[in-house]
Amino acid sequence: MADIAATAHLFHPLQLRELRLRNRLAVSPMCQYSAVDGLANDFHLVHLGRFALGGFGLVVVEATGVAPEGRITPGDLGIWSDDHVEPLKRIVAFLEQHGAAPAIQLAHAGPKASTRRPWQGGGPLDADDAARGEAPWQTVSASAEAAVPGWHVPHALTIEEISEVTEQFVAAARRARAAGFKAIELHCAHGYLMNAFLSPISNRRDDQYGGDLAGRMRLPLEIAERLRAEWPDELPLFVRVSAVDGDPDSGTTADDTVAFARELAARGVDVVDCSSGGVGRRYAHPEHYGYQVPYAARVRAEAGIATMAVGLVVDPEHAQAIVADGEADLVAMGRTALDDPDWPLHAQQALGAQPAGDPFGDWPQQARWALEARGPLLDRLGPWAQWAGGEEQPE
Ligand SMILES: Cc1cc2nc3c(=O)[nH]c(=O)nc-3n(C[C@H](O)[C@H](O)[C@H](O)COP(=O)(O)O)c2cc1C
Repeated sequence: MADIAATAHLFHPLQLRELRLRNRLAVSPMCQYSAVDGLANDFHLVHLGRFALGGFGLVVVEATGVAPEGRITPGDLGIWSDDHVEPLKRIVAFLEQHGAAPAIQLAHAGPKASTRRPWQGGGPLDADDAARGEAPWQTVSASAEAAVPGWHVPHALTIEEISEVTEQFVAAARRARAAGFKAIELHCAHGYLMNAFLSPISNRRDDQYGGDLAGRMRLPLEIAERLRAEWPDELPLFVRVSAVDGDPDSGTTADDTVAFARELAARGVDVVDCSSGGVGRRYAHPEHYGYQVPYAARVRAEAGIATMAVGLVVDPEHAQAIVADGEADLVAMGRTALDDPDWPLHAQQALGAQPAGDPFGDWPQQARWALEARGPLLDRLGPWAQWAGGEEQPE
């Protein structure tokens, strides 16, 4: 077996300011579209809590609207009022009790707000939705252009309204702190409001918040700066980017993203979480595992900032290599985590990364004693296939 101490960085702690993560595995923010009035409920507690029991070092709560009109769907979590704090506190407490650092993604959906849940078909809310109690609302963006032809035409934010949005993000950070979160992530990806400002495809402004890259970066950078000032010095600030737009010919390039990441680093951002696509409906998902890892690697190498890699990472050896090879400091998982909330526990065993003499590593005590006892029994029974095949049972 490989010398784990030298190579298995996936299970080494990561220090971000005064926050220590038990390993390099994060649950990527994932909307569950299951809130009422933005309030977290038992579903969110169980869904997110499961990942702490499964051994993830960091659990990032889904895109959480800093304003009601900043929700993607009526079912998104929100953090626009003090009433949202209390139910989030429960989740924070559970995650921390079970060893995971609680983080929350602060978001404004901008031109991609006011849509149906994916299982209701996605797309903009309409009169039928209004009839069942979920009426569309006025969306906002950098420019008055629909994100996708046929979708809501957003209102282009005025300078005064831009300041209001900035204050909404700052107030959201204050509430995230009140709820006890240990990290916040500013959502600048996937075609939502910050991304709509960053991308030349969606930002047609001719004032100081548009035009060249410096103009298009201005709002996200101003907000990052304000979040850094609001958020405690001892806790980390993440920013999720779409490293490239779905349209590689006319949109944001990886060079733009490296420049953006440098500016973020200069403002005290700690981690750039590298996703891609989403302006309009376009996501360029090459058909390979870890398709966004190269962006995390480039940003890390060229902007000198820690990165989180995400996107179709499913294999323990692959995840380990991403960290060990210095492509990213953290590996985030979305669907992989939904598929197996115990992924870190299984990966730790697959990599032989448990502490010496402890085959169950980070398994919670509530499960490990029973699994430990089951092991010798399974060994005696032999493989299931032997039984299913009708072969004679071993003595
Ligand atoms: C159900 C679901 C909800 C998602 N919601 C969000 C979200 O709230 N914020 C975000 O930045 N990305 C969101 N994403 C994208 C994921 O965070 C992740 O980047 C993407 O799924 C790629 O990782 P994976 O291949 O491990 O799923 C979502 C993805 C899924 C599958």
